[in-house]
Amino acid sequence: MNTRTTRSMRYTARLTTFAAIAVAGSLALTACGGDAKTDKTSSAKTTAPAADSKPKLAVTGAFIPEPAMPDMAGGFLTVKNTGSVGDRLTSVTASAFSGKAEIHETTKDGKMKEAKNGFPVLANGTLELKRGGNHIMFLDVKKKPKKGDKIAVELHFEKAGTVKVDMPVEAATHNPQQHH
Ligand code: CU
Repeated sequence: MNTRTTRSMRYTARLTTFAAIAVAGSLALTACGGDAKTDKTSSAKTTAPAADSKPKLAVTGAFIPEPAMPDMAGGFLTVKNTGSVGDRLTSVTASAFSGKAEIHETTKDGKMKEAKNGFPVLANGTLELKRGGNHIMFLDVKKKPKKGDKIAVELHFEKAGTVKVDMPVEAATHNPQQHH
């Protein structure tokens, strides 16, 4: 008791004894309250949002048109997110098929370039990779694909992780948009 008082008096040498005790007491209280609060928020952070923080992704309409070039091909698909959290397609791999897969955007003047930041898939939104727009670009294609082939592709998302898709190879002119 005496040593504690002495110690806190030493720490707060410039304060009066009364103030020193009052400050020490309120600090202790604050620390306790703070701890309890931190515990509550951190457990809320790990439990509550976790159930809710995953995007729900579904891939439809995937296809690769029979390419004109022997070593490169385009890929198209739609990603629908029915979750309330947005996600981002960051990269694509298809190692058995293509030495290097990229995600490309088509600029206004019709040129394509790699989308370095990926493509967002908004909460309750849709990402469309389609002819004339954003697409997957398979480079260093090992064997030119033919209609009827299925290509194993992994789509990598920032939050949902890896989504595997078997992309069917369709005729060169195939365009699902024309059917609607
Ligand atoms: Cu491209």
